[in-house]
Amino acid sequence: MFAAALAAHSARVEACLEGLFAEQPKGKLTDAMRYATLAGGKRLRAFLVLEGAHLYGVRPQQADRAAAAVECIHAYSLVHDDLPAMDDDDLRRGRPTVHVKWDEATAILAGDALQTMAFEILASARTAADANNRLRLITTLAEAAGAKGMVLGQMMDIAAETAVQPLDLAEIHELQANKTGKLFSWSAEAGPIMGNANTGVMRNYASAVGLAFQIADDILDVTGDAGKAGKRLQKDAQAGKATFVSLLGLDGARKKAAELVEEACDGLDIFGGTGENLRALARFIIDREM
Ligand code: IPE
Ligand code: IPE
Ligand code: MG
Ligand code: MG
Ligand code: MG
Repeated sequence: MFAAALAAHSARVEACLEGLFAEQPKGKLTDAMRYATLAGGKRLRAFLVLEGAHLYGVRPQQADRAAAAVECIHAYSLVHDDLPAMDDDDLRRGRPTVHVKWDEATAILAGDALQTMAFEILASARTAADANNRLRLITTLAEAAGAKGMVLGQMMDIAAETAVQPLDLAEIHELQANKTGKLFSWSAEAGPIMGNANTGVMRNYASAVGLAFQIADDILDVTGDAGKAGKRLQKDAQAGKATFVSLLGLDGARKKAAELVEEACDGLDIFGGTGENLRALARFIIDREM
């Protein structure tokens, strides 16, 4: 049931992205942007946007565009994360990374253009008829993605590689909340923002799920199968990074992730049965192999 919902939501956001790329000039830049965005990916952030939008009565066509926007930001973050100057990875979503398939300049520029494209999508009246809602989507995504959010988290992550002392639990917590948590939270809050509703319930859910997601990513880095994950693993230990796994051990990290999923699901009680897809997403996030 969850697998079917995830596949259906993925198909929606991918169709929306196809349409958006069709409006771009033809050539290498658009090819690289398409490749980075459409060649695989679980679409977890898009799923959150679409589910949140459904729960808050937003029109699906509008939700698709917000979901496409966050997938553009996410894809850009991965393209840049894989660059030689950062994680230096040659495999992503089971395929060569953008700088390997093309070159570094193309990867940098495709990432840049995906980032601006996300805001262009949100700025359109087709995403939200009310200009105030568009502005809120744009502002909150800028905050979640930039120097107070994902980019800050990436900076902390890179700094941690050369830190004299490994980060402690509180520092890892802060790093992860920025690196991955904030884009998850934005994705969950986009629905209530577009539906003129309070974002608190979705924010609480997403902050627990976002952290569980990153703990699961760290666990997969140690125990996962690279073929299934579609990316190189055992990179964190190699880079000497402190993660939830290095600090809590595998069992401790699994326990922490499971507790966070419980916490996330408890907060969904107000939705009754209609919150089931979000409960299933939370469970999927810690049980996944990719
Ligand atoms: C991978 O994110 C990068 C992290 C934030 C840890 P996902 O695991 O959501 O990547 P895709 O989109 O499914 O490839
Ligand atoms: C990347 O984190 C997170 C972002 C791109 C924001 P990781 O470096 O842990 O992601 P993977 O493991 O390469 O997917
Ligand atoms: Mg990284
Ligand atoms: Mg990486
Ligand atoms: Mg990782």
